[in-house]
Amino acid sequence: MSDRGPAATADRGTLPEPQVRAMFDRIARVYDLMNSVMTAGLHHAWRRRAADLAEVAPGDRVLDVATGTGDLAIELARRVAPGGEVVGTDFSEEMLVHARGKAPDIRFEWGNALELPYADGEFAAATVGFGARNFSDLQQGLSEMARVVRPGGHVVILEITTPQRPPLSTFFSLWFDRLVPMIGKVAGDSDAYDYLPNSVKRFPEPAGLAAVMERAGLEQIRWVLTAGGIIALHVGTKPGGPAAPSVNANPPA
Ligand SMILES: C[S@@+](CC[C@H](N)C(=O)[O-])C[C@H]1O[C@@H](n2cnc3c(N)ncnc32)[C@H](O)[C@@H]1O
Repeated sequence: MSDRGPAATADRGTLPEPQVRAMFDRIARVYDLMNSVMTAGLHHAWRRRAADLAEVAPGDRVLDVATGTGDLAIELARRVAPGGEVVGTDFSEEMLVHARGKAPDIRFEWGNALELPYADGEFAAATVGFGARNFSDLQQGLSEMARVVRPGGHVVILEITTPQRPPLSTFFSLWFDRLVPMIGKVAGDSDAYDYLPNSVKRFPEPAGLAAVMERAGLEQIRWVLTAGGIIALHVGTKPGGPAAPSVNANPPA
């Protein structure tokens, strides 16, 4: 086993909570630039798709968990205006500082995803973008998201996933195992960008994540893969919402 302390667990894609927080505090200032470099700017389109899946409307209140520098929250804010509210929550104060700088009108506040400081059913939907893989307890994090959503509301998870078949699996491995750590070194935080590929590898594959969502109390779970199978968008519904009209509800006269 390596004697590099925190990096020893970073190599396996797991870190205790205080170290995850410290890592994001450290990389906050380069986070947006790194995202754009590593995804060739595509991450904005993925967030737009995640916001669409939340199916929110003007006037709704929506929660973006592990909001980071706030890009998904900003996307959601466009959909709930006028009259709605987006709350972005994260446990890295430095990431929140950048989020507030970008969108002073959105409520960005400190909160731990595993113990959300909100009442049951407070939000029309809850989203998490590239954050769930960092939760030290995924089941607990998703259960919390399900808890704060009103019956019938959606929980949306946008995450990187490991493609199973070549040529994407070969490209993915080259990109993640070699390029990302190299870019991390250039950006001055190789531990953080060693952790990233490993955290993706240990994250459940799409069907496994759907099973965790189901155990979190969600139903009608479905997912779409995009970017050649590298990005997964999952959506689940909190039970108990208004029943969908049955096909025979209004039979022709
Ligand atoms: C990779 S960033 C994603 C940020 C943003 N959602 C996006 O789409 O770019 C992961 C974020 O999750 C946050 N995070 C991880 N675990 C958390 C937890 N238990 N509670 C709150 N935030 C958490 C980190 O602080 C970090 O800002």
